Amino acid sequence: MTTCGEALADLARRLAAAGVESPRLDARLLLAEALGLEPMRVFSHPERPLGPGAAARLQELADRRLAREPMSHILGRREFWSLSFGVTAATLDPRPDTETLVEAVLAALPDRERPWRLLDFGTGTGCIPLALLHELPAATALAVDVSAAALRVAADNARALGLENRIRFHQGDWGQGLEGAFDVITSNPPYIPDDDIDGLEREVAAWEPRQALAGGADGLDCYRALAPHVARLLAPNGLAALEVGQGQAGAVAAIFAGAGLALERVAADLAGTERCLLLRPAAKDVRNIPFK
Ligand SMILES: C[S@@+](CC[C@H](N)C(=O)[O-])C[C@H]1O[C@@H](n2cnc3c(N)ncnc32)[C@H](O)[C@@H]1O
Repeated sequence: MTTCGEALADLARRLAAAGVESPRLDARLLLAEALGLEPMRVFSHPERPLGPGAAARLQELADRRLAREPMSHILGRREFWSLSFGVTAATLDPRPDTETLVEAVLAALPDRERPWRLLDFGTGTGCIPLALLHELPAATALAVDVSAAALRVAADNARALGLENRIRFHQGDWGQGLEGAFDVITSNPPYIPDDDIDGLEREVAAWEPRQALAGGADGLDCYRALAPHVARLLAPNGLAALEVGQGQAGAVAAIFAGAGLALERVAADLAGTERCLLLRPAAKDVRNIPFK
């Protein structure tokens, strides 16, 4: 009978041949899933025989990964901000880059204890508002997505994290039909230029929802659509935080300047790429206010 060590080596080899970027790590996680063990324990007994049930489960998981289905879809989970998020084919897989936005918002808030009102556009798994609610104990959030299936995943994540009493969900097209004033508005909108999507790695191009990726011909359509809603729904001196794609910071800042929002800071991700814009309502030019 095949041992766990042999199965692991064989699967890692096959994943590498299929072009998977981290074949050994993925093989270990898939074997752990097939055995129902913590990944750390897979290495401890490589001589353990792989029973027929586990071998069949491993084969099924391996076939999915060999078709380049993302690990998060196969395992149904992804860690973000050290929290565990359920992920499905209806949601973008939360990226470490997006933690830059969460970090930048938290650094900009003077006091974590206040009852901040948060609004997140294009919430997907809910990773942004749920990570923020986790850090801001008195805050509440409204999370918007056009996808009902994504909102169901986000609601399940809120319950699993015990945050469901402080977040509401709304299915809609950005801010259409919404009223109110929010202290913090966040968004990681789709920003990939349409023609670039098919050239992305297969895990993304073939498996992630196009609605979560496609940003129009130049990748900036969603920022153009969002800018007036953000300007209208942001409280005076509120904070808007937008994730941007590589090289988009200047163009996105110009779009939001046109809607009356001034750039306060650009935060870079761990690779040094400009990743998040922080914006505030521009100070009104008092010279233009007529005397009464
Ligand atoms: C890039 S994903 C971001 C998901 C999540 N916020 C994250 O950072 O992982 C963009 C999200 O915007 C949503 N979306 C696309 N068009 C939208 C629209 N017109 N109104 C609201 N949400 C939209 C998609 O369904 C998707 O969940």
